[in-house]
Amino acid sequence: MNPTDPATPEALIHPGYRNIGESLVRELSRLMSDQEMISLAGGYPGAELFDRDGVREAAHAALTDSPTACLQYGPTEGMAGLRESVAQWMAHCRAPVSPDDLLILSGSAQGFDLLVRTLIRPGDCAVVERPTYTGPIRVLKVAGARTLTVSVDAQGLNVDELEAMLRDPALPRPRLLYVVPTFANPSGASMPVSRRLKLLQLAVEYGFVIAEDDPYSQLRFEGEPLPHLIALTDQVPGSKPWVVHLGSFSKVIAPGLRVAWMAGPAVLRRPCMLAKQLDDLSNPGFTQMTVQRYLAAGRLQQHLPVIVGAYRERAAAMRDAIAIHLAGRVNFNIPQGGMFMWGRLQTEGKARDLLALAIEEKVTFVPGDIYDADQPDLRTLRLSFSTPTPTQITEGVARLGRAVNRLAG
Ligand SMILES: Cc1ncc(COP(=O)(O)O)c(C=O)c1O
Repeated sequence: MNPTDPATPEALIHPGYRNIGESLVRELSRLMSDQEMISLAGGYPGAELFDRDGVREAAHAALTDSPTACLQYGPTEGMAGLRESVAQWMAHCRAPVSPDDLLILSGSAQGFDLLVRTLIRPGDCAVVERPTYTGPIRVLKVAGARTLTVSVDAQGLNVDELEAMLRDPALPRPRLLYVVPTFANPSGASMPVSRRLKLLQLAVEYGFVIAEDDPYSQLRFEGEPLPHLIALTDQVPGSKPWVVHLGSFSKVIAPGLRVAWMAGPAVLRRPCMLAKQLDDLSNPGFTQMTVQRYLAAGRLQQHLPVIVGAYRERAAAMRDAIAIHLAGRVNFNIPQGGMFMWGRLQTEGKARDLLALAIEEKVTFVPGDIYDADQPDLRTLRLSFSTPTPTQITEGVARLGRAVNRLAG
């Protein structure tokens, strides 16, 4: 080091945290101070759909009946009563697990970070979908992982492409694969059972951990439920030790409570528990007790149809408006649940240029390149239908149609 170099605090920051910048989604949300702007960009749940009364009653009951549990330090793995309730919820979602197999998390995003910290050293290989949720891309980057990507089509992760990658002796063997099998963010795609089974077989054959991120599967407004990977491990011999399921109440109760969970084998869960201990010792007792009371009162089963019903209506408005204003010019995957529709421009031009025109027309969306870890497709875009009303969606897509005309013309 040159002793004449000026010392700055910035120079001391780990490179993975330098210039990470604010995410584009946050920048777009700032445009929302303009009253006329319609956002098809946000990834938040619809705030007017929160069950405020139910959460208020559960919080009140928690604090009244169990003040010490709410306010005292608690176990890192999460409160026994909540783990019991989460196990019941998972059984309801056809993925039975034992309460002992659970680690309560502060958001499922924390779960992936813990897995990366415990499995990945700089230079180790991980696989994500292309496109995928931005959080894991950033976590892997900070960890210094070598990230490989596998394409996604209307049926989710392309498992044949994954197999070819695993067979390629020139490529490193991955230790971890991150996948959102149902109503993925951003693609909206869901993997059929055959692909899920093949993915489990590949994990056994090539020895990599699957992080199954599942924030959206309960937001199904059409079609039949698909089995979780963790539930399918019963059908694929040897696969159980390789699957870690990340579940969350963020999209079905409220993200502000930060209550989520990891379900998986002790050999993987225990190091994550130790890593979590270094982070925060445990989740807040108050929010854990609140969620436990909320579940025990049966409010989730009662209220979820309200949320799903609203998203059904919003998705239908988006689908119909796309057919009128964007047909032939932007192709979309139309999902049976979740919060997102994924599109690709069929005309010349880039989604970022379209966004600049769309902002002039007073509508926003997210350009798809931010969801790509290595080979950004500059023509892709994500629309979200979770927060705007059906009327706003219809008008927003019409405005987007005008922006596409201007891009082409
Ligand atoms: C795929 C995916 N995983 C995880 C999360 C974060 O969920 P949580 O609030 O449980 O951390 C999101 C949030 O948008 C998401 O889209």
